[in-house]
Amino acid sequence: MKAAVLREVTKVYKTKGGDVVALDRVSLSVERGEVVVLMGPSGSGKTTLLNIVSTLDRPTSGEVYILDRDVTHMGERELEKFRLRNVGFLFQTFNLVPYLTAEQNVALPLVALGVRRELAYMRARLLLEMVGLGGVGGLYPSQLSGGMQQRVAFARAMAADPPLLILDEPTSNVDVDNASLLLSLIAAVNKTMRTTIFIATHDPDVTAIANRLIYIRGGRLREGEEPPRRELSIDVERVASIYEKLKLLHELG
Ligand SMILES: Nc1ncnc2c1ncn2[C@@H]1O[C@H](COP(=O)(O)OP(=O)(O)OP(=O)(O)O)[C@@H](O)[C@H]1O
Ligand SMILES: [Mg+2]
Repeated sequence: MKAAVLREVTKVYKTKGGDVVALDRVSLSVERGEVVVLMGPSGSGKTTLLNIVSTLDRPTSGEVYILDRDVTHMGERELEKFRLRNVGFLFQTFNLVPYLTAEQNVALPLVALGVRRELAYMRARLLLEMVGLGGVGGLYPSQLSGGMQQRVAFARAMAADPPLLILDEPTSNVDVDNASLLLSLIAAVNKTMRTTIFIATHDPDVTAIANRLIYIRGGRLREGEEPPRRELSIDVERVASIYEKLKLLHELG
């Protein structure tokens, strides 16, 4: 099974100033369990590509297959169900629900999937603890810093153990320690669950966890223009404890 196949995907935005070609005939094939890191200048099409892979947006032309399903021709209702079950995403702008607490935000995808309330909240609390936010479950997004909101949004993306995890600049608002915590967590999720992960980033440290590093410029994938990879020392003890919690979470679900 392929995690994602894009064939000649083009995305054109119609604006007052004319057409903007955000993606220009992008083809890509990603195996299950790969960690794909997308880098490239601002406005190069990273978020557009992630939106299409996550099925939140449709291409102007071309074909998209996610987990072997043809999502280009799927109806809106079916697509919504498919997404809920299979895709977790962390938006560049977080998109937390302002009138729900951190814990309720994280539990949201689980509740939507029909997971028992107590279990959903138990998982939400564990996930928050995992991202270093054990104490803030009862707070609302407006009461959290940008970096805290980002970690809540990350926990929400992971909540339902989706086979496909899409992370748009997951480390853009956090400090160095939390960035390395998030990277350890992403590596751990990938190892334990064989989750396929797409990450758009400007942060060179993220290259350390990439199986596949893709450079994009002007809406086109540029082979051979990838930036050099970073080495990252991952705190083994911390990852081990994260592993244990992830397994526990998986078994609970
Ligand atoms: N909804 C939209 N309407 C019109 N143009 C858009 C829209 N979304 C994106 N664009 C345009 O598409 C191009 C690609 O944008 P995109 O958001 O994918 O870039 P990006 O690589 O994610 O940038 P950044 O690193 O700043 O997040 C840009 O020229 C942008 O202006
Ligand atoms: Mg972007």
